[in-house]
Amino acid sequence: LPTAMLSAQPAGYNYDEAKVPAYTLPDPLVMADGTPVTSADQWPKRRDEIMDLFLQEVYGKAPGKPEGLHFKVIEQSDDAVNGKATRKQVRVFFDADETVAMDILIYLPKKLVDAKQPVPTFLTLNFFGNHSISDDPAIVLSESWMRSSKEKGVVDHRATEASRGASASRWPVETIIDRGYGLAAIYYGDIDPDFDDGFKNGVHALYDPPAKDGWGSIATWAWGLSRAMDYLETDAEIDANRVAVFGHSRLGKTSLWAGASDPRFSITISNDSGCGGAAISRRAFGETVARINTSFPHWFCDNYTKYNDNEAACPVDQHQLVALIAPRSVYIASAQGDTWADPRGEFLSAVHAAPVYQLLGTDGIGGETELPPVNEPIMHTMGYHIRTGKHNVTDFDWKAYMDFADQRWGK
Ligand code: GCU
Repeated sequence: LPTAMLSAQPAGYNYDEAKVPAYTLPDPLVMADGTPVTSADQWPKRRDEIMDLFLQEVYGKAPGKPEGLHFKVIEQSDDAVNGKATRKQVRVFFDADETVAMDILIYLPKKLVDAKQPVPTFLTLNFFGNHSISDDPAIVLSESWMRSSKEKGVVDHRATEASRGASASRWPVETIIDRGYGLAAIYYGDIDPDFDDGFKNGVHALYDPPAKDGWGSIATWAWGLSRAMDYLETDAEIDANRVAVFGHSRLGKTSLWAGASDPRFSITISNDSGCGGAAISRRAFGETVARINTSFPHWFCDNYTKYNDNEAACPVDQHQLVALIAPRSVYIASAQGDTWADPRGEFLSAVHAAPVYQLLGTDGIGGETELPPVNEPIMHTMGYHIRTGKHNVTDFDWKAYMDFADQRWGK
């Protein structure tokens, strides 16, 4: 197939490996003052340094857990997914006055619930509402603002009945249930609508406008995932020690930041996350920092624009984001046709984070340094695959994530 048929390759960006600039990555195992980090007990200090830089220069600082946070189960059934699952829809209110909320749609294998076995669960954000992941008519149709999409049945930025199940190909709900996992889904626009409105809507309405190092939308969505985790910890049907946070594309960037900033996530999964996610920014392959900050000025904190067309000046690069997750399990996935997201750059962030994983006593990425053959997942404490096809979430991806969860959680 000609590459053009595989994925969007906006013109004016580099897709040629030979034209990647020479670069030096900041070393995750050297302190800011030059001291080498040679033992695990030095890592917390170095980790704090790296975390502060990501907070200050890249994603921005988010507030903690709001005082008024509370939850209400708004719907539940023990007969979902062909009788195999229970369904629960939980409204998470971010304030005592109930002005801003997000809904979590939860499916759990009925067998495990009946046996009172807490369920290991995939916590996920989606692009077009919880009702888009399945045609289950009991799912509350989202009333939140949505990006325009005819294909997803969105009219005037609102979902319609035609939106039900519109993204079902990305969500093999029945297979997830059959494999003994739960699925918790949230519409990202409940947390922060995905457009540049000057930080007024979504949960930002409850806070002062951010400073130059204040939370952008990615940090806000990740904060929402932490609030979902606050709920999951209260639900005895869920095994809060075995929660995998998963996201695709901009939501893959989000899952990485969620996994880095909240140690309660046992597994972090990034699907085709690209620039500002797993891809090494200094490679400037496909999407660049300047382009992402221009097209999506609300995603990162304002300080990040300092690195437009100047990636080398940034005190961190994305392998250090992955390193922040260590020693917890992380899986990074790429698609061959998704050159915009720089598959090799996504793999390299795992390779360059691996020394931290090894210092902390794990097998990292198993010593791999070469991009593996397509469709052959590597699974160690860190996992990786590059599959054939384009920017998307497929059954192949989900099979790999569930195999990885089986392995990591000893199922
Ligand atoms: C755009 C953007 C990417 C992003 C993607 C998505 O292509 O440039 O950075 O990952 O949208 O979220 O679908």
